[in-house]
Amino acid sequence: MSGPGGRAAPALLLLLGLPGLLLARPRYEPTWGSLDARPLPAWFDEAKFGIFIHWGVFSVPSFGSEWFWWYWQKEKREPYVKFMEANYPPGFSYEDFGPLFTAEFFDPNQWADILKASGAKYVVLTSKHHEGFTLWGSKYSWNWNAVDVGPKRDLVAELATSVRNRTDLHFGLYHSLFEWFNRLFLEDATNAFKTRKFPTSKSLPELYEIVTKYQPEIIWSDGDGNAPDTYWNSTGFLAWLYNDSPVRDTVVTNDRWGVGSICTHGGFYTCSDRYNPGHLLPHKWENCMTIDRSSWGYRRDARLGDYLAIEDLVKQLAETVSCGGNLLMNIGPTHDGRIAVVFEERLRQVGAWLKVNGEAIYGTKPWRAQNDTVTPGVWYTFSPKEGKVNAIFLNWPGSGTLELGEPRAKLGETQVKLAGYKELLKWVALGEKGMIIALPQLTPQQLPCQWGWTLQLTDVN
Ligand SMILES: *[C@@H]1O[C@H](CO)[C@@H](O)[C@H](O)[C@H]1NC(C)=O
Ligand SMILES: *[C@@H]1O[C@H](CO)[C@@H](O)[C@H](O)[C@H]1NC(C)=O
Ligand SMILES: *[C@@H]1O[C@H](CO)[C@@H](O)[C@H](O)[C@H]1NC(C)=O
Repeated sequence: MSGPGGRAAPALLLLLGLPGLLLARPRYEPTWGSLDARPLPAWFDEAKFGIFIHWGVFSVPSFGSEWFWWYWQKEKREPYVKFMEANYPPGFSYEDFGPLFTAEFFDPNQWADILKASGAKYVVLTSKHHEGFTLWGSKYSWNWNAVDVGPKRDLVAELATSVRNRTDLHFGLYHSLFEWFNRLFLEDATNAFKTRKFPTSKSLPELYEIVTKYQPEIIWSDGDGNAPDTYWNSTGFLAWLYNDSPVRDTVVTNDRWGVGSICTHGGFYTCSDRYNPGHLLPHKWENCMTIDRSSWGYRRDARLGDYLAIEDLVKQLAETVSCGGNLLMNIGPTHDGRIAVVFEERLRQVGAWLKVNGEAIYGTKPWRAQNDTVTPGVWYTFSPKEGKVNAIFLNWPGSGTLELGEPRAKLGETQVKLAGYKELLKWVALGEKGMIIALPQLTPQQLPCQWGWTLQLTDVN
């Protein structure tokens, strides 16, 4: 890594001594070389777990996918065309769904309380998806926004206020650069992005607007529309964000800033949706995935089996964190502002699991091994402060003993604890081959949690 480009600390600040030094910050240049060298603010890696919320006009048809508009009118996929023919009058347009986005049950305090109960440390709300509808009263949206149409409320402001007032979660915003059917974007695309009417009059002003108004600590960019980052002026925006914006010290961003930037440039890497490589990466990354396997937005046609079970979610969390990632787990609220009870239950379940196993997740670092070599479904993390190795195991062995091939135990020194259980566990060292641990014999009611457990090992190599 090269150092951040730009000016050195001004001499005056050096003369002011230590307080001055602490105030001095590097200036970032609008180049990837400079921006990519910015250290990621530490809170993000420590947080490990966030909730993604996909909410918008697509929550009104709530059928198939949040890509409803595109699948219906651009690709003319049969289920979408038939759904419209069967349920809406001829000539009904996507824009006609706007007034039906009512949010009458939207209680941002209740949302904040559910988010907090999930154990998440941050939340990312779709301020604007590819449909172009802004959940805040953007000056640049004509009337295609939640203040003028539908709820007649600033949904971004309301959620930000409640999250900040009631929880310690970091508040983040998703923002789509392109809009499927925006005429200015389509015109620029026709000109092979040699003209830049859309980013200069829409996307960029919106980005500056949401940062200034809501001070999000995550800008989760998406939807490059096959245009390069130079078209979007992503580096210009990011240099402002890192140098001069009100969130310059704490904000984190992702890697979706134009064709070719994904998994290569920006802040943390997302690489692809549901990215979960199963091995350690040299760069901070995030696994963004949805509880509903097939959609990010709410859809009424989902079956129970379409939702990941809590066992799946705990597995995703353990695998992701072991390999140095953060998990961003998505829910899709309804058009009338509810978090469906199936999502609420999953969130509360993860929270209950984290109450017992949180030490193996929050603030951890990857260990030298990510998963065990002998027993499948065992994922390791390391707690640097306590010097503890955490082995999260997803299957409780019928034998009552768990063989671990990775940790080398030391007689008289190593201690093994089961998170949420008082007594130390007995173990046998196998030298270079690891160790065997005797789990306590517990009834299901006595287990500290279900769906996955943590062994905390001290003084192992
Ligand atoms: C913040 O929360 C407190 C206590 O929960 C409440 O009394 C207050 O009205 C809230 N403020 C806002 C702006 O919502
Ligand atoms: C890109 O953004 C920066 C920062 O706002 C600005 O100074 C620059 O003029 C912009 N460049 C283009 C080509 O729009
Ligand atoms: C460890 O994880 C990798 C990646 O998911 C997998 O290919 C491998 O089989 C795992 N090893 C064991 C012993 O489970």
